[in-house]
Amino acid sequence: MSEKPSVPDPEARAVSELFKKFKRLRLFEPSVGVLGFVIVAVSVICCFFYLDFRAVAKGFLFPGQLQSERFVWLKINGSGEHPRVEFLEQKGDRCGVFEGDWVWDENYPLYQSKDCRFLDEGFRCFENGRPDLYYTKWRWQPKDCNLPRFDAKLMLEKLRNKRLVFVGDSIGRNQWESLLCMLSSAVPNKDSIYEVNGSPITKHKGFLVFRFNDFNCTVEYYRSPFLVLQSRPPAGALQTVRTTLKLDQMDWNSVNWRDADVLVLNTGHWWNYEKTIRGGCYFQEGEEVKMDMKVEDAYRKSIETVVHWIETKLNSSKTQVFFRTFAPVHFRGGDWRTGGSCHLETLPELGSSLVPSDSWSQFKIANAMLSDHISTSEAVNFEVLNITHMSARRKDGHSSVYYLGSEIGPAPLHRQDCSHWCLPGVPDAWNELLYAIFLKRQATHSWNSTK
Ligand SMILES: *[C@@H]1O[C@H](CO)[C@@H](O)[C@H](O)[C@H]1NC(C)=O
Ligand SMILES: *[C@@H]1O[C@H](CO)[C@@H](O)[C@H](O)[C@H]1NC(C)=O
Ligand SMILES: *[C@@H]1O[C@H](CO)[C@@H](O)[C@H](O)[C@H]1NC(C)=O
Ligand SMILES: *[C@@H]1O[C@H](CO)[C@@H](O)[C@H](O)[C@H]1NC(C)=O
Repeated sequence: MSEKPSVPDPEARAVSELFKKFKRLRLFEPSVGVLGFVIVAVSVICCFFYLDFRAVAKGFLFPGQLQSERFVWLKINGSGEHPRVEFLEQKGDRCGVFEGDWVWDENYPLYQSKDCRFLDEGFRCFENGRPDLYYTKWRWQPKDCNLPRFDAKLMLEKLRNKRLVFVGDSIGRNQWESLLCMLSSAVPNKDSIYEVNGSPITKHKGFLVFRFNDFNCTVEYYRSPFLVLQSRPPAGALQTVRTTLKLDQMDWNSVNWRDADVLVLNTGHWWNYEKTIRGGCYFQEGEEVKMDMKVEDAYRKSIETVVHWIETKLNSSKTQVFFRTFAPVHFRGGDWRTGGSCHLETLPELGSSLVPSDSWSQFKIANAMLSDHISTSEAVNFEVLNITHMSARRKDGHSSVYYLGSEIGPAPLHRQDCSHWCLPGVPDAWNELLYAIFLKRQATHSWNSTK
């Protein structure tokens, strides 16, 4: 998988021609237009229903006058827009931004994959032949407040002289590349953004540090699917033990993450039997290899280690830490090796989230750990980027068979990727939430300092 980003080859032109054609098609092809309309209509109806319910429910809290005003507003405007508070204002402080709906928004996506050279081929679904673009058109709308619209310039200004670091598995990389595209869309001179060691964006181990030179900031990715240390077993371990995960030690690379200004961690997809014990990777505590330890217990212990590390090794006035929760997968009828599929999904679940039950235990474990910590600890110095439920509705957002590159074309139907996400797409919404919470903290800090 090599890439020649700055050379505009005929291939790329063909893709952009195709894209233009598709855009024209989208405007004039009746069936596409009708579907778009139906989607908008359905969401408007849902909003009506929803607001109606809310107005009734809140009737006890608000004077009747306000309630009827609300109705009048709705009828006159008729746009389906809620009179919500802004998340960034002080009134928005208590808003739970992870509860809400996906709404169709013609202003999306925030960038086009063909304009972004920081994307692995595997995420370029449209260029790899995916025929629909609906998955790029959904915006996340929290129930009780509005998010700020993503402003790449503003975020880069706020990141001036800073480091933003992603650490985790390839879904973390998915999110990191999404943010690179979102941020670089505001930088006219793309050559001012470069990997500090000259490494190309390809699937490789280790880390990548992209520098936005005009802003003296870096947006970095460290691959560490377990976050804790995976290395050679202790002397005298059984022969079947090829490596061990040291559940009480952070990855050696963690010294490089510590001084980040913003740190986004994730782990989960590798905590299963296939990716550990079956490959001879067992769990270790202290000097002891725990031959019988279950993956779930090991995962729980690793999260304890990560939380302890955040609390003892990081400077909470400097580093804003996010722990992103598990990103759900949507294989139907098998997994990625046994013919599981998602390639026919073109729309999200617009109702309540249908949680795929397999692979759900990782979420539950991390969730229980983190919630526990948040409710018992006095000073919580990390934010949970709680994207699991919202993403569970986006069965339409995965790479499915469109991950092999434009030259090769779609993969065979029995080899689908229903765990990574197309870009532009769902991880952009995670980053919009990251952006909102990041700005919120800055606003809170300045309120506090002006008091
Ligand atoms: C629609 O609602 C907004 C926000 O409450 C209000 O400012 C505006 O005047 C309304 N538009 C009409 C046509 O009444
Ligand atoms: C760039 O940022 C670093 C901190 O990440 C800082 O030490 C350095 O002074 C900055 N350079 C300039 C030219 O502002
Ligand atoms: C923690 O970070 C703040 C802000 O950057 C800095 O002023 C302070 O000296 C740091 N504290 C320690 C113990 O390094
Ligand atoms: C994340 O959100 C879900 C659903 O809204 C909730 O059940 C869960 O407790 C939340 N987890 C954390 C750690 O905040």
